[in-house]
Amino acid sequence: MCGIVGYKGKNNSIPVLLNGLKSLEYRGYDSAGIAFVKNKKVKIIKNIGRVSILESSIDSNEFSNIGIAHTRWATHGKVNKVNAHPHRVGKITLVHNGIIENYDEIKNKLSSYKLKSTTDTEILCAYIDYLYSKNHNMLEVLNKLKDDIKGSYALVIINDDEIDSLYAIRKNSPLIVASNDNEFYLASDMPALIKYTNKYMLLDNDEIVKISDNIYIYDKSLKEINKKILTFEGTSNDAMKCGYEHFMLKEIHEEPKVINNILSYYVTDNHFNENMPNFKNYKEIYFVGCGSAAYTADIAKKVFEKYVNVKCEVFLASEYRYQKHFYTKKTLVIFISQSGETADTLEALRITKNDGIDTLALVNVVGSSIAREADKTLYIKAGPEIAVATTKAFVAQYMLLTLIALKMSNNEKYLCDYKSLEKRLEKVFKIDYIKYANKIYKSNNAFFIGRQIDYGLCEEGSLKLKEISYINSSAFASGELKHGTISLIENKTPVISIITDEDISLKTISNIKEVHTRGAYSLFITTLDIDGDFYDDKIKVDNINFILNPILVVSVLQLLAYNVAKLKGEDIDKPRNLAKSVTVE
Ligand code: AGP
Ligand code: GLU
Repeated sequence: MCGIVGYKGKNNSIPVLLNGLKSLEYRGYDSAGIAFVKNKKVKIIKNIGRVSILESSIDSNEFSNIGIAHTRWATHGKVNKVNAHPHRVGKITLVHNGIIENYDEIKNKLSSYKLKSTTDTEILCAYIDYLYSKNHNMLEVLNKLKDDIKGSYALVIINDDEIDSLYAIRKNSPLIVASNDNEFYLASDMPALIKYTNKYMLLDNDEIVKISDNIYIYDKSLKEINKKILTFEGTSNDAMKCGYEHFMLKEIHEEPKVINNILSYYVTDNHFNENMPNFKNYKEIYFVGCGSAAYTADIAKKVFEKYVNVKCEVFLASEYRYQKHFYTKKTLVIFISQSGETADTLEALRITKNDGIDTLALVNVVGSSIAREADKTLYIKAGPEIAVATTKAFVAQYMLLTLIALKMSNNEKYLCDYKSLEKRLEKVFKIDYIKYANKIYKSNNAFFIGRQIDYGLCEEGSLKLKEISYINSSAFASGELKHGTISLIENKTPVISIITDEDISLKTISNIKEVHTRGAYSLFITTLDIDGDFYDDKIKVDNINFILNPILVVSVLQLLAYNVAKLKGEDIDKPRNLAKSVTVE
């Protein structure tokens, strides 16, 4: 969650740090701060609210060659200026992403310290100062620190006694390090640095970094190590809106490109190529993810059941971790995560590996923790996704899952259909959503109904609407409505129904009629040629086939949610209380 940037070099660190924070805004945060070294002294400026507020409180003439910056997504202690980072205790100034679980225990060792904030981070800061007061060797201090603290952290530290250096350490919170022409950078993610370089190094858990005249990285035994230099595939356009009003809209419009990226990587001349492994020896598949990543699996599960004919189960990672499993050596567990850092999904992966079960990860962010820890990883190749609400990554996850299913069922005949998605999505983009959004945006509640594969789409459509428009929306398997929820239907309550599957269409139509006759505003989304008096409005998209129709419909649902949120004037790319990368449990 949130973000960290660090800089040391010949140029002014302040614009680098602020630009970096702005590129990480998508991760979600509630306050922002910066610390920089001026005349050998550390100066801290922090504020609640946006990075732009922080920027306006910094004198534009300030110059400093070395600094650290942070966006905070509060976990311990209220959102206020004192709790915002950087924190400073004694000789130590630092920024921290993550959670220190045993902060109370650590605090007991620090009775001589008077702390100002209510954060776990300030305790950590004091503890480093305490350790340093006993041993003036920062590398050894940080090595001891990681043995003493429990939780997750990415830390970037300035020590008054080594005012020209930066130290960093991470565990289960992302941190990368990069250099370019004697300028050195630290950041939570590459979009923060893409303006300056596309080469970077991924830090592993518990490695310690010192940046002075160069970047030095140390392993657990404090032996200096060399890290592989990686190339970031994205471009600076990924961190820019490129004429779109919001990243979410830009990313929806990138879906055709993403589909083509996936196709060209896994398929050649309508045949699977060597990049697509075959998992056909597995007799059971578990899918594990959070939020949309679980919903993409709910939809893909129907494709696996229909074409591969294997038993499939979908689990929310936060539940999966604590429940009993009955898997066998023929079970494959697929972990789905855009960020590759979601704490619950990562922990579920570790538990499964520990149980000796085969794991596959479908991830977007290259080199992320889930990507690195799974037995096998397939990348969804969606490119950086900035808007908190996932769109193109959802499509990419679903598409890759369908390709895995087709490979397992030795079924290449559908591969040629994927090519038509581009022009069919272009038609979806041209629909005038405002006229439907107008009938929804003033409502307090909304419902999405559908059966089977369409129910999975409803779950995603409903999440998308609620997370960015703040309308209280729920998805129901349409047959369930009359078992309780139908009592909530009032005059003009929006009910969005979905039918892509002909086999269950008549049953769903009956359910739509039930709500329509009770006064609901009925918006019917379908790929089929169905007409009738059970809807007020209909959005018809192309009918490709059972596997690919969900992609067209999900794009409609994303654009519908987008337009509702826009009419409400909400902060679409950065919805309140949410973060892009949920690294806490
Ligand atoms: C989707 O729009 C959400 N913001 C959220 O549900 C997200 O899909 C979930 O947090 C999982 O994230 P991940 O894919 O990075 O693991
Ligand atoms: N736990 C720390 C806090 O609440 C850090 C949160 C973050 O990752 O931003 O301040």
